[in-house]
Amino acid sequence: MSLQDAIKKMGEAAASLVKDNNLVGLGSGSAVAAFVNALGERIKREGLKITAIPTSMQIELIAENSGFQLERYNRINNIDIVVDGADQIDSTFNMIKGGGGAHHREKVFIEAAKKRVIVADESKYVKFLSRSVPVEVSTFARHFVWKRLEALGGRPKVRTLEKGYPYFTENGNIILDTEFGEIKTPPKLETDIHKIPGIVANGIFTMKIDHFFKAKADGRVEKISK
Ligand code: 5RP
Repeated sequence: MSLQDAIKKMGEAAASLVKDNNLVGLGSGSAVAAFVNALGERIKREGLKITAIPTSMQIELIAENSGFQLERYNRINNIDIVVDGADQIDSTFNMIKGGGGAHHREKVFIEAAKKRVIVADESKYVKFLSRSVPVEVSTFARHFVWKRLEALGGRPKVRTLEKGYPYFTENGNIILDTEFGEIKTPPKLETDIHKIPGIVANGIFTMKIDHFFKAKADGRVEKISK
């Protein structure tokens, strides 16, 4: 059994939480893709009627080939369950998200959903958050935001594509991946960044999550319910 087997199993475990007629919020990333594939299998096998709203084109492309009926953002308040991935999860279950640049929509989806589920492999679970925080910024405000992030102790860097072109989110903004070292108080930093005008969303997530799944290299999957 490998980590890949465990990620597949984790997708199936998360898919088993979805009920017939649910409206499912789809986060983004490879772990969510495993969930979408597993739920697609359930839809075929059990003839479930599942509708879904994607947070990004990445997951929409996967979902539209998996038997889902896709819904629009006007149904966001009706999401029964959201399943999303994470880039880092600390020992008190705060997260950094936005490695794929979709954290603005993901934050809204998670807040809106009645049930919240995170799927991530064991490498994402750490004691303290320490990777760079994705900060989505309206382009015109970038110099102002940059200075304010530095004032908070951050070291911002514009996210770029391979050839050096800036990365634009699906909302038309840029991302400043900002290093803060080890983050000892994620809720405070999340709020401090959030207060800076010109920022659309930051990648620190501190809201309550109902279930975390952890896929392990030995093929096992752990479920942590809060
Ligand atoms: C996208 C995200 C993803 O959920 C996060 O990057 C995890 O992706 P993966 O499962 O591919 O590691 O936050 O903005």
